[in-house]
Amino acid sequence: MTNPHGDDDPVLDRFHFLVNAPALFNAVTTAVELGIFRLLAEQPGCDAERIGSATGVPAHQLRVLLQAVCTTGLVRREDGGYVNSPVASDLLASDAEDSWAHILIGWKEIYYPAFGQMTTALRGGTNTALADHPGDEPTLYQRLAHNPQLEAVFHRAMSAFTLRSVDSLVCQPEFASVRHLLDVGGGDGTTSARLAARYPGLKCTVFDMPSVSRLDRAATSFPDRVDLHPGDMFQDDFPGGTDAVLFSHVLEIFSEKEIMHLLGKAYDALPAGGRVLAYGYNVSDDETDGIFGARLGLYFNVLASGRGMAYPARDYEEWLRRAGFNDVRTTAGLSYEHGLSTGTK
Ligand SMILES: C[S@@+](CC[C@H](N)C(=O)[O-])C[C@H]1O[C@@H](n2cnc3c(N)ncnc32)[C@H](O)[C@@H]1O
Repeated sequence: MTNPHGDDDPVLDRFHFLVNAPALFNAVTTAVELGIFRLLAEQPGCDAERIGSATGVPAHQLRVLLQAVCTTGLVRREDGGYVNSPVASDLLASDAEDSWAHILIGWKEIYYPAFGQMTTALRGGTNTALADHPGDEPTLYQRLAHNPQLEAVFHRAMSAFTLRSVDSLVCQPEFASVRHLLDVGGGDGTTSARLAARYPGLKCTVFDMPSVSRLDRAATSFPDRVDLHPGDMFQDDFPGGTDAVLFSHVLEIFSEKEIMHLLGKAYDALPAGGRVLAYGYNVSDDETDGIFGARLGLYFNVLASGRGMAYPARDYEEWLRRAGFNDVRTTAGLSYEHGLSTGTK
C-alpha cells in the first residue's frame, strides 16, 4: 500500500483502525456478553474447544470472533490457548459496578444504533434517532421512562462510566466546606454516594426524574444524609436550604439558553457565598481535541436531546459569570477529558 504521507504516518494507522472499529467494537462487546473475558480470567490459556463449550458458540463462528478480538490486542494466543491482556483483565473481565463491560453494553444498545442516522440528524438539525424510542417527550432521558429495562441498562452504563472518572471530582477541595449539596440530574445517585462516603459531614439531595429516582442507590446507602427530590429540573423549583449546586454531566446535554436558565435557578436557590459546580466533559478550547467529548456531542445531537455538546471550559466560565457568579475558575485535565468549572454567589 502506498502512502504519499509516508508509511509511518500515524493518521493513516489511526484511519485504518477507525474504519474497522465499528466491527471490532461489536466483536469485543459480543465477547463481553458471552463471558469470554471472564472465562479467560478464571481459566487463562483456555483453548477454543473449552471456550466453545462454555459459550455455546459454534466452532467456526467462534474462530471468527476470537480472531477479531485478538486483532485488538485485548486477547492473545499462547500455546494454542487464549489469555487476556492486562487491559482486558482490568476493564472487561469483571461484573463490578465500574466495569467497562456495562459501558460497552450500554453504548451498543443505545448509542451506536442511533449513529446510523447521523447525516440525517445533523443535516436536519434534529435528533431523528429519538423516534426509535417510544413516547413523545423531547429527550431520551424522559422517553426511557417508558422502557424500564433499557433505562436500567442506560443508568448502569452511565454509573459505570461515572465511577471511572468520579474520584477526580470527589477529591476536589471544594467539597470539604460544603454542608448541603443539591445534585441536579444526579441520576442513580452514584456521585452523591461517593461524596457522602468521602465527606461524613455532607448532606446531598439528588434531584432527578421520578423514574430515575427509583434507581437511586445513594439514598439507600446513606439514608440519613442523602435524600431524593424527584422532579423536572426545568419545570420544578430547586429545593432551598443547600449551599452548593452540582451539575454533573448535565449542562452539556442542553443549549446555551437552557444552561443559562438552569444556572439562573441555581443562583436563585443559593445563599450568598453559595457555590455552583459544573462538572463534565470539556473539548479543548480550540475545539480540535477530545474523542470522548466528540462521541458525546454526536450522541446528544443525533439521539439524546438534539442539542448540547461537551462545551469547552471557556463557555462554562462565560455562562457562570453571566449568571452572576464570581470567582469563576476551572480545574482542567481531570480524568477522561473532564473539567470542573466553579463560581460563587
Ligand atoms: C448524563 S446523566 C448524568 C447523571 C449523573 N449526574 C452523573 O454524573 O453520572 C443526566 C441526568 O439528567 C437527568 N435529567 C435529564 N433531564 C432531566 C429533567 N428535565 N429533569 C430532571 N432530571 C433530568 C437524567 O435522568 C440523567 O439522570
